[in-house]
Amino acid sequence: MTNRNAIILAAGKGTRMKSSLYKVLHPVCGKPMVEHVIDHVSSIQASKIVTIIGHGAEKVKEVVGSKTEYALQAEQLGTAHAVMQAKDILGDAEGTTLVICGDTPLITAETLEALLDVHAAQKAKATILTARTDNPAGYGRVIRNDDGLVEKIVEHKDASPEELLVQEINTGTYCFDNKLLFECLENVSNENAQGEYYLPDVIEILKQKGEIVSAFETPSFDETLGINDRIALSQAETILKRRINEGHMRNGVTLIDPDNTYIHPDVVIGPDTYIYPGTMITGKTIIGSECHIGPNTEIKNCEIKNRTVVRQSVAHDSQIGSDVQIGPFSHIRPQSDIRDEAKIGNFVELKKATLGKGSKASHLSYLGDAEIGENVNIGCGSITVNYDGKNKFLTRIEDGAFIGCNSNLVAPVTVGKSAYVAAGSTITKDVPGEALSVARARQVNKENYVNKLNINK
Ligand code: UD1
Ligand code: CA
Repeated sequence: MTNRNAIILAAGKGTRMKSSLYKVLHPVCGKPMVEHVIDHVSSIQASKIVTIIGHGAEKVKEVVGSKTEYALQAEQLGTAHAVMQAKDILGDAEGTTLVICGDTPLITAETLEALLDVHAAQKAKATILTARTDNPAGYGRVIRNDDGLVEKIVEHKDASPEELLVQEINTGTYCFDNKLLFECLENVSNENAQGEYYLPDVIEILKQKGEIVSAFETPSFDETLGINDRIALSQAETILKRRINEGHMRNGVTLIDPDNTYIHPDVVIGPDTYIYPGTMITGKTIIGSECHIGPNTEIKNCEIKNRTVVRQSVAHDSQIGSDVQIGPFSHIRPQSDIRDEAKIGNFVELKKATLGKGSKASHLSYLGDAEIGENVNIGCGSITVNYDGKNKFLTRIEDGAFIGCNSNLVAPVTVGKSAYVAAGSTITKDVPGEALSVARARQVNKENYVNKLNINK
């Protein structure tokens, strides 16, 4: 295979986004658009990937990390000028260089591979990825001669009325013979409507040299959407959402209402799981099989095993076992670990809490900084008092313990194995295993009180 390299253009500000966030960092289905591009480019096995950064360079580097090398474009003088900045890194390389814009996150790895295949098969010095659309406004148009061969690309703002009618557009993705690319870039001028050095001008320059220029038209215009404003951003979100959701459905997941289900790209879901409307599953979440998730549920960075039910709830950065029941209206905060067959009911909040196998907190509890064993029952309204205003402390509740309703467990404190805490207790000292602890005022009944009070009677 010929040596491959890639250049990702990501130095522009993205003026049309009207945002303080740099364009290529705007997320599509939760992932910055430039990261989508890099993930797809990574699969073409390039020796080097160079990201051209400029606006927000540090921020872009922070997000992309060590996945690519970088070249700085200090001033944004156009896409040709941007590619030039990679010359120090790639100028001498042999082989093929893929150039792609950081604002086209929907182009798939398969399409990139197909483009490279056509390029190699045609022995071309440049191959343009093109697409056809009824609404080509804003895109560069691919101009072909009478024999159907590509002549040049004309930017929308420079196009004649006749050229504007052309529906074949430049997707902004190309592959080039690397050496010729850098040679031709020297000859690109900025005499055009935008006063910019246009990368597409390289095509005409190559043609004038008598080199073979080819084009590969993808049947899917959707893939090639360039995101210049928030309208295109929402279109990309819809297209990618559909693509992701269809992938899950093909894998055996039931989505009751895919248009109203939001699953981010790195989420894994097992077969025969049902996802109900209004559910958002994000980050690195892994859900097992035969689960029921939703409606109206938010899950981020969680691992959920099999046959678990999560209804109308929020769960973040936590482990949830098999056959667990959560909700409605539960809040699972980070670092919680809910073991198999546990139950968490309405208005129960967990934070950094382990709830052992078969344990239950069915109603109205706060369990924070807690280690709770197996088969523990947490009565309605019980609370771990974990914070003294300065520091957080641990509550331990051992296997089989029973915490009566409306108890306060003032940490640090341990309730021993199979112990009972009477309802309404405020526990400040450890409770030994198998003991009953009552920590509340004794009840006093004042007989005949009403009659004594009612002096006029
Ligand atoms: C570009 C193409 C157009 C194509 C369209 C596809 C040019 C001149 N035009 O237009 O033919 O139809 O993409 O989406 O190439 N960038 C830099 N440095 C710069 C300028 C831009 O890094 O100096 C980056 C931007 O961050 C962006 C990409 O290059 O990721 C494309 O720039 P943009 O301004 O969006 O070009 P379009 O007008 O969309
Ligand atoms: Ca663009």
